[in-house]
Amino acid sequence: MGRLWCFYYFLLTLIHLFNSTISRLEQAPTPPLPILPLPTFSQLKWQQREIIMFLHFGVNTFTDREWGDGHESPEIFNPSGLDAAQWASVAAEAGVSLMILTAKHHDGFCLWPSKYTDHSVIGSPWKEGKGDVIREFVNAASEKGIDVGLYLSPWDRHDSRYGHDLAYNEYYLAQLQELLNKYGSVREIWFDGAKDPKAQNVSYYFSEWFSMVRELQSSINIFSDAGPDVRWVGNEKGYAGDTCWSIIKRASLSIGSPNITHYLTTGDPRGTDWLPAECDVSIRDGWFWHKSESPRKLSELLDIYYNSVGRNCVLLLNVPPNTTGLISEIDAHRLKEFHTAINTIFHKNLAEDCNIKVSSQRGGKEGGFGAENMVDSDHLWSYWAPNDDGNNDHWIEIWGKNYNGSLRFNVIRIQEAIGLGQRIQRHKIYVDGKLLIQGTTVGHKRLHRLEGGGEVNAHVVRIRITKSRGLPLISSIGLHFDPFWHSKFSVT
Ligand SMILES: *[C@@H]1O[C@H](CO)[C@@H](O)[C@H](O)[C@H]1NC(C)=O
Ligand SMILES: *[C@@H]1O[C@H](CO)[C@@H](O)[C@H](O)[C@H]1NC(C)=O
Ligand SMILES: *[C@@H]1O[C@H](CO)[C@@H](O)[C@H](O)[C@H]1NC(C)=O
Ligand SMILES: *[C@@H]1O[C@H](CO)[C@@H](O)[C@H](O)[C@H]1NC(C)=O
Repeated sequence: MGRLWCFYYFLLTLIHLFNSTISRLEQAPTPPLPILPLPTFSQLKWQQREIIMFLHFGVNTFTDREWGDGHESPEIFNPSGLDAAQWASVAAEAGVSLMILTAKHHDGFCLWPSKYTDHSVIGSPWKEGKGDVIREFVNAASEKGIDVGLYLSPWDRHDSRYGHDLAYNEYYLAQLQELLNKYGSVREIWFDGAKDPKAQNVSYYFSEWFSMVRELQSSINIFSDAGPDVRWVGNEKGYAGDTCWSIIKRASLSIGSPNITHYLTTGDPRGTDWLPAECDVSIRDGWFWHKSESPRKLSELLDIYYNSVGRNCVLLLNVPPNTTGLISEIDAHRLKEFHTAINTIFHKNLAEDCNIKVSSQRGGKEGGFGAENMVDSDHLWSYWAPNDDGNNDHWIEIWGKNYNGSLRFNVIRIQEAIGLGQRIQRHKIYVDGKLLIQGTTVGHKRLHRLEGGGEVNAHVVRIRITKSRGLPLISSIGLHFDPFWHSKFSVT
């Protein structure tokens, strides 16, 4: 009897052990808690676009000016060969997924037949006053699967209601409703705080405007100096701060205020709001097309790319249509070169063919948070997570599978799993034991080009995360070779 009981007990224990092994295999370790604030769905989608195209077009195109004074006759607007399909083709060939058009600039001239003014395409000879640039733009973009955004200048130098706050704000809001009701889905709306320098006391009713935008378009991102969805980066050079947080204290920001530009450039690790930065810059010196100007060199555009997209921002690159109503061939060509260059640099990731070792990994070897997640194609929700054991020395070591064969690269790419918050505050990169880079923020994407145009032929690359808000979570890493980054000096 006693022996049988013993055997029975032994059997029970075995079954229990077996069951718990099975359940351990079935229950994956959970993802770590996010660190607030987090992006919204639309902000995440926006960030992944990386490059957005801006198009400045209007009466200034015909007067060869940057700012119209509002006295322009609509009769000068006559883009005889306007073809928005050409704009969309240029954007598509440049890999752009969102185009933003100036529906109205400071001069007050409207590119659509607004009910509330005659200062628009209605008064122009183009299509005998029956044309609608916004409609053609929206249709052409949609044909190519490109999303649209609009800019409606708060400063209107033509309309006589400007300066009479109630009447003017009603006028502005009426036009906003026309644009957001009539033309389908709008993904970004762009506000600036520009005002008549002689009428700084005019008020823009941003709260009413923003609430109306939200009501009419559910997946839109509102851009302004102070968001609420996307913030200005604080300059028009296309450069973000070397440190650039997507988080900031929105309460410290106000639209058009001059004391915030530095704060906008860097963001704030103690920020309470997710408000990523957009870097607006033009492919030419001016925002509008001028016969005398030509596009920037490829090397300049690449510098802009590394300093905007490569610093956790989205690049808003302006490409202005000319007086014919087309994007000039030289601009289109330069944009295509730019796109090809980016593909050439990043299509090959040497890290994919390497051994990667990490300081620790959440849930152990089979936990699903291993180093392999940093070299797969998912750059958001598949990531390396270290163990949450209080040890703050987090590192990644990358070396060639064939120890003798060296890695030839000059660009290092790091991406955080920003869906769980922006975390990394400081990081260091050692190449063959030598400290080459001391970096700060990472965010959606951080690109380090090796100093002086140099490339290295190295065996081991070690990335150390030395300071972070909580555990660092890395969704992608890359070692790339940029053949356009010409060397003046060599690092090794
Ligand atoms: C702004 O100031 C000007 C000049 O002082 C005045 O004429 C105008 O009525 C003011 N406008 C508003 C909206 O307060
Ligand atoms: C800018 O100035 C305003 C008004 O003085 C202040 O409330 C705000 O906090 C300042 N913002 C920054 C970022 O310094
Ligand atoms: C505008 O660009 C198109 C395409 O390159 C070109 O055919 C046209 O001549 C240009 N117009 C002007 C005024 O330069
Ligand atoms: C690597 O180098 C060592 C020492 O020079 C040599 O003995 C070995 O054969 C090399 N291995 C390969 C795979 O080239």
